[in-house]
Amino acid sequence: MTIVAHTIAEVRQAVSKWRASGKTIGLVPTMGYLHEGHKSLIDQAVRENDCVVVSIFVNPTQFGPGEDLESYPRDFNHDLALCEDAQASLVFHPTPEELYYPDRSTTIHMAVLSEELCGKSRPIHFDGVCLVVAKLFNIVTPDRAYFGQKDAQQLLIIKRMVRDLNFPIDIIGCPIIREADSLAKSSRNTYLSERERAAAVVLSQAIAYGQKLASSGESNPSAITQAMRDILAKEPLADVEYVEIVSQENIKPIVGRINEPILCALAVRIGKTRLIDNFFFNPND
Ligand code: PAF
Repeated sequence: MTIVAHTIAEVRQAVSKWRASGKTIGLVPTMGYLHEGHKSLIDQAVRENDCVVVSIFVNPTQFGPGEDLESYPRDFNHDLALCEDAQASLVFHPTPEELYYPDRSTTIHMAVLSEELCGKSRPIHFDGVCLVVAKLFNIVTPDRAYFGQKDAQQLLIIKRMVRDLNFPIDIIGCPIIREADSLAKSSRNTYLSERERAAAVVLSQAIAYGQKLASSGESNPSAITQAMRDILAKEPLADVEYVEIVSQENIKPIVGRINEPILCALAVRIGKTRLIDNFFFNPND
């Protein structure tokens, strides 16, 4: 039976019972509208921990003005059924009022790693993500927390926050789960019309080609990103925000040759929908 908790007190009560009997705890933070990508995180958490908490919360502090906070898709009954099916121990579904005091005064600012890629067009996004994730870590006190590699910049930022703020939590990055045609699974895919959905496959085509070039020894970052841009340019509905190769260490553009672990990431608007995709590559592997 999956417990449904709407308050911090209910989560703390369950967690202290589990801790008293020596159980390990995994946390899967989500914004709901769960799909196979989230399911794979929950499945991994269930395999690796005695108890698993899934948080479902569309976090207002990570949405900027004019972004899709209000229209972000929500379906709690579907989400709960998926969590029950995956044998999550507890679903935490707070209201914004439960999580945020109206006069809250504390912020988290992620410097450097939030300045490139999605941080350029979403300047407050990663500070909001860090704030809510830090709060969830303090409420749930997990041993491990699971994040998808689909949001690669987020994953690297959470790892940095955990290091910098000494959270005793292992951050586990989990592989991107893709649709049959290779489009990365995302709750925002539901915004796409039929024509846009067909066009969106161009993102994963560009990623696959970039990955092929990097694996076959191309070490000039601009050669890889230009080849990826050429693929994206063939799709008239694709409006490219960025295609970048950055260091996994500090998320700054690679200058010169690729000789360290990199993140190659892109963001593309298909119609009004902003989609992202990426790959990690280590030339020393
Ligand atoms: O990746 C997400 O869904 C969100 O950014 C997260 C980590 C749940 C924080 O709101």
